[in-house]
Amino acid sequence: MSNTLQAVRGMNDILPDEAEAWEEFESLVRGWLRSYGYRPIRTPVVEPTPLFKRAIGEVTDIVEKEMYSFTDALNGEDLTLRPEGTASCVRAVLQHNMLYQAPQRLYYLGQMFRHERPQKGRYRQFHQVGVEALGFAGPDIDVEHILMCQRLWDDLGLEGVRLEINSLGSSEERASHRAELIAYFEKHEALLDADAKRRLHTNPLRILDSKNPDMQDLAEKAPRLSDHLGEASLKHFEGVQNLLKDAGVPYRVNPRLVRGLDYYNLTVFEWITDKLGAQGTICAGGRYDGLIGQLGGKPAPAAGFAMGVERLLALWREHQTGDMGWAPDVYLAYMGDAAQRMAFGVAEELRSGGLSVLLHCGGGSFKAQMKKADASGAPLAVIIGEDEVAKNSVMLKPLRRELGQRAVERGALVEEISEYLFEADD
Ligand code: HAM
Repeated sequence: MSNTLQAVRGMNDILPDEAEAWEEFESLVRGWLRSYGYRPIRTPVVEPTPLFKRAIGEVTDIVEKEMYSFTDALNGEDLTLRPEGTASCVRAVLQHNMLYQAPQRLYYLGQMFRHERPQKGRYRQFHQVGVEALGFAGPDIDVEHILMCQRLWDDLGLEGVRLEINSLGSSEERASHRAELIAYFEKHEALLDADAKRRLHTNPLRILDSKNPDMQDLAEKAPRLSDHLGEASLKHFEGVQNLLKDAGVPYRVNPRLVRGLDYYNLTVFEWITDKLGAQGTICAGGRYDGLIGQLGGKPAPAAGFAMGVERLLALWREHQTGDMGWAPDVYLAYMGDAAQRMAFGVAEELRSGGLSVLLHCGGGSFKAQMKKADASGAPLAVIIGEDEVAKNSVMLKPLRRELGQRAVERGALVEEISEYLFEADD
């Protein structure tokens, strides 16, 4: 084994072939977000630890065991690498008084950090595209978010992504459900696993979400939150469902969908695929009307969602056909010092003309250069030798078609190449 250093476990390098797909995805996503009127916000990757404790909740997996927290050695501040984007987004909106004038539709895109056990689709550094709408109270914005997702899946050509929704009601309704739930689990305490016992009095709702097969039956028969929802919550949920039906978006109400972050109320939703194994949730979110007040702002309603970019891209790749690798328009080869100097000028002229050019670097025989030209995937090579320098012209050589090379005057090169590429595209 060599002693070269490796990346941190669960944190991935994204190599060029893949990174190009990421860039394509990101530009598609930015266009999609703009078309719904969402504006970008960029917040720091590191935040004060109390932000996440307050927002996500002390008794959650994320805060209890997944945060990369540390003390700043220079000033003793408690800091954390962000495990999600909602808390940071709300903090920034409050800090800059952005809700003062109007509600805000915002999005962000970037890395998040959670110290989870890495496996396919679950990483310690992962990326999210997150969307937050602050200052909107009605079911309409919840449905806007769900419809946005549906459109993105359609634009990406994804199939087999299903929608599950639930209502978590208000905090009072959850409190009354919680009391009943604790009483129920206490009655069956002998059947609880260690995790559930620990959560019984702190976060019993999360027991419903247990992945332990032995707990499924108990969770299935547990008192339901839906039986505790009051008129306003039911009306909101009905509003969401009516709009979804109007839009023709299929969904399933999953009464056990509770989410792993404490800030949610009313509508919550998840988009799930069966094609990625255990980590099938590609996107999740919901309403968090209490969070702004909880973080010290004047209370205002809000809702949002985030998708896992690694999971989404894994799914997208399954549907992509053909080669996604990048290739330049032109590979530029040359022989001799004078030709090299001319090649630098020609390459810049081609780029000014909107073409992408790989200029040969590193010397080598003409044969070796042409091998590299072939391997680059470029449809055309531009070749400059001593004769070409003397005549201020170049040789243009198609690499992917049975056509001979021909001399082209330097001033006419951009046009010739553009025409060739246009025809080859037909
Ligand atoms: P979340 O459910 O924790 O919600 O994460 C959202 C999505 O991020 C997940 O559905 C999944 O696709 C992806 N994800 C989460 N953890 C990992 C991981 N370890 N590796 C790979 N992908 C992962 C939130 O983060 C909320 N802030 C969403 C939200 C925004 N709610 C309202 N606004």
